[in-house]
Amino acid sequence: MKWLNLALSLLALGVGIAAWQRSSPAETAWLKGTPGQQVAQLEKHARGLDVAMAEIGYRYGELLRAQGQEQDELARYHLDKIRLALFLAVERRPKRHASARPFLEQAVPEADQALKSGDRVRIAGAMENLHQACLSCHAAEKVDHFIPVVERIRREHGH
Ligand code: HEC
Repeated sequence: MKWLNLALSLLALGVGIAAWQRSSPAETAWLKGTPGQQVAQLEKHARGLDVAMAEIGYRYGELLRAQGQEQDELARYHLDKIRLALFLAVERRPKRHASARPFLEQAVPEADQALKSGDRVRIAGAMENLHQACLSCHAAEKVDHFIPVVERIRREHGH
């Protein structure tokens, strides 16, 4: 059975070398050039508002569903992630910061306070204001074609 042991050892060695090659920086590095060029490359991968909005659209549906089921802590979690996603997105795209301010500085804190209070009437009012704040920014940023998308999310996830 010596030959079998030898064959198995060679196989193990082969697998080991392959794994080592895969994990060696020369094989896996996808960032190219100087550190400055690498940062520029990473910046492209961070993307702009489009990816943030895909996340925000998803979380908006989850937020509406949660508050409709009176799961206010879950709703606050999604609201906070929406705030964070937009806050970071406008850090990357500062030209859009001004349009985002009413949403970030009024609509989101108001919705958070309402959810914290547990008062259903107050929550309903704050959710309506949040919805309008999404639409106002889309209008201000001349991306009105997404307004029906936001309306659809509310129809599908609201109550
Ligand atoms: C900065 C203001 C701003 C606010 C506030 C805002 N949006 Fe947007 N939204 C945009 C912009 C700009 C785009 C288009 C992105 C692009 O073209 O890069 C967009 C696109 C979208 C899209 C389409 C994403 C895609 O690519 O499929 C959805 C969905 C969306 N927004 C949902 C929402 C919802 C829901 C809210 C509120 C909870 C909201 N947005 C609040 C600016 C905003």
